[in-house]
Amino acid sequence: MLAYRDRGAGALQQSPPHQNEVNARVWERMRPQHLYTRGRLRAAERVLFERYHAELSGRVLELGCGGGRITGHLVPLAGSLTGVDVSGQMVACCQRRYAQAHFERRDIRDLSSFQTGSFEAIVAGFSVIDVLDDPQRKRLLDELHRLLTRGGLVIFSSHNLACAPLVRGPLASFSWNPIRSLNRLVRLPRALRNHRRLACLEQVHPDYRILNDVAHDHSMLHYYISRDGQQHQLEQHRFELLECLDLDGSPVPAGADAFGCHELHYAARRVS
Ligand SMILES: C[S@@+](CC[C@H](N)C(=O)[O-])C[C@H]1O[C@@H](n2cnc3c(N)ncnc32)[C@H](O)[C@@H]1O
Repeated sequence: MLAYRDRGAGALQQSPPHQNEVNARVWERMRPQHLYTRGRLRAAERVLFERYHAELSGRVLELGCGGGRITGHLVPLAGSLTGVDVSGQMVACCQRRYAQAHFERRDIRDLSSFQTGSFEAIVAGFSVIDVLDDPQRKRLLDELHRLLTRGGLVIFSSHNLACAPLVRGPLASFSWNPIRSLNRLVRLPRALRNHRRLACLEQVHPDYRILNDVAHDHSMLHYYISRDGQQHQLEQHRFELLECLDLDGSPVPAGADAFGCHELHYAARRVS
């Protein structure tokens, strides 16, 4: 078997690293960036937070809270808010900004320390669950079911499988915006190195794909699923899909692929 150089760990390994580890390693070292601290709410998030403000007024868990972009909008709504993030720096940033909420450095792969039925709502914005591979994603859905009260709500977003053909390598990431193009050019060597290392870990399955997309200079692997595939997955894990929205906050009905919208937002209710 070929030896595989893992740049993150800096060592030669016999087998390639796993998607979950690749992504966690990048996020663990990430500093809070403007995008994840002061960035504005997306239209879809605004619509969902307004529509489900009753559920969001109870005990809320936010997964991958980052630097508090969404947190700042949940804190005034929630009776109590707990935020978790794998990055210590992100957690520290949220703790500084929102003293009234509670934050923990925690990987979403292990939420076992939270008691059953602890939350009325769980929010997982900006596709955080897409860092997980398929078995871990399914385990997480079971965990969310356990952590929610009966009828509890989960709001999350996920990469849209219909946009998989638009996911290109670093050389194809051209932009008409000159500042963005220059920025991409400066970062191109790093993006090329990352893509060379991770493209071999991409996967194609009938229901989903794992892709090395442009995020953070091609340094991660993300899960892509269709709107209908996500509904089916939710149902298999005892959730009822309430609605799916595109980034503009427009409904994406069953059967639609929302081509061109790279991320879809979902609201689902725990059943049984
Ligand atoms: C794309 S950022 C989104 C941040 C924030 N929720 C927002 O919407 O702006 C994803 C966040 O999830 C965190 N994250 C990534 N993988 C994680 C994991 N396995 N467990 C917990 N947090 C994770 C990252 O550290 C990062 O802060």
